[in-house]
Amino acid sequence: MAEIVHQPKVLLVTGGAGFIGSHVVRRWVTRHPEVRVINLDALTYAGNLANLKDIEDAPNHRFVRMDIGDTDAVAQLLREEKVDTVMHLAAESHVDRSISGPMAFLETNIMGTASLLSACRTVWTEQGGFEGKRFHHVSTDEVYGSLGEEGFFTEDTAYDPRSPYSSSKAASDHIVRAWHHTYGLPIVLSNCSNNYGSFQFPEKLIPLFIRNAVQKKPLPVYGQGVNVRDWLWVEDHASALEVIITCGADGRTYNIGGENEWKNIDLIRLMCRQLDEKLDRSAGETEQLITYVQDRAGHDMRYAIDATRLREELGWRPSITFEEGLGKTIDWYLDNGDWLDEVTSGAYRDYYDNQYGNR
Ligand code: NAD
Ligand code: DAU
Repeated sequence: MAEIVHQPKVLLVTGGAGFIGSHVVRRWVTRHPEVRVINLDALTYAGNLANLKDIEDAPNHRFVRMDIGDTDAVAQLLREEKVDTVMHLAAESHVDRSISGPMAFLETNIMGTASLLSACRTVWTEQGGFEGKRFHHVSTDEVYGSLGEEGFFTEDTAYDPRSPYSSSKAASDHIVRAWHHTYGLPIVLSNCSNNYGSFQFPEKLIPLFIRNAVQKKPLPVYGQGVNVRDWLWVEDHASALEVIITCGADGRTYNIGGENEWKNIDLIRLMCRQLDEKLDRSAGETEQLITYVQDRAGHDMRYAIDATRLREELGWRPSITFEEGLGKTIDWYLDNGDWLDEVTSGAYRDYYDNQYGNR
């Protein structure tokens, strides 16, 4: 591993009750008992304390329900806890929701990020300056736009976001860099490809399809299923974020990806085969649930990450193969029906019914 240049003492994780955030919080709470982890989350439909049950009583973990847009409350928390490091994951994260309701994405992802940066700048300035402080902005490969059949996104690829979600994340990336260049705030930034694993809200492709398959509901494939995504095990994303926040160079951006491209329909067929085996179904039974539906508006064709910088400068590598990770993920959802019931009760059910009807 590369040399450590920043050692967090009090780490504030925003969005720590969400999918990736809960894995990040669990990793720091369990592997770094010397680090105090403050988990700030507004608990939107996507955030759930059920994601944190195994660590809720850990002595180095404190959960705080708060909106990142509440600058004064966040500033007070930063003072009270003497936070020296922020890892910022809180966001509206689902592309389909950004198409049906963009304003929440602009509010949280753009204004919320600016508000959080302002709170950090104010409080860290009061405390004598930015020495020993670090702000890590967690972003997405979608800011780079869409690829054709060839090529990869590098850290130098020009921004070309296309959806309300990706444009709001792109704006937040620019704002974070502006706080670095203008005010000298110490930052690192990372752009990651599609994550999969446990605790992912079942509106995203993999958990939605597992849940529908179990219930023998249709599996709604957008368009022809030919779009390509580059999939990374969520725990490997969490390990990359740790390497970047502790070893990354000030002001630098790192792409994170697993070099694991899949055409949607091939991935869906692989999932169906694994589900047939795990659910004792006859071969091909789950695949019969595949239903081609209207394509996503403005659907980006292909994402693929070049993670050379992260590998060569910081020595990070993904830990498991996709087949292994997907198998573990399916097992987790099959074993955690109670979690699925809990997180899909209430607000999400209404959204899901409106969005997908009887598909
Ligand atoms: P998620 O939707 O599962 O979780 C987001 C969390 O943020 C939730 O717990 C939610 O309650 C919280 N939140 C939302 N608005 C908030 C606000 N105003 N104040 C405080 N908390 C708020 O998202 P995720 O998939 O875990 O993604 C986490 C981050 O990683 C996001 O910034 C996303 O853009 C980025 N990212 C995600 C992926 C992916 O494949 N899921 C890939 C690359 C980057
Ligand atoms: O690339 C990183 C991004 O990956 C993150 O920044 C986003 O937060 C995250 O949601 C994810 O975005 P995608 O749009 O790629 O993920 P999603 O799981 O929604 O869709 C994956 C692919 O599957 C995409 O091509 C659309 C398709 N799809 C999705 C759903 C929900 C379907 O065909 N049917 C579906 O029902």
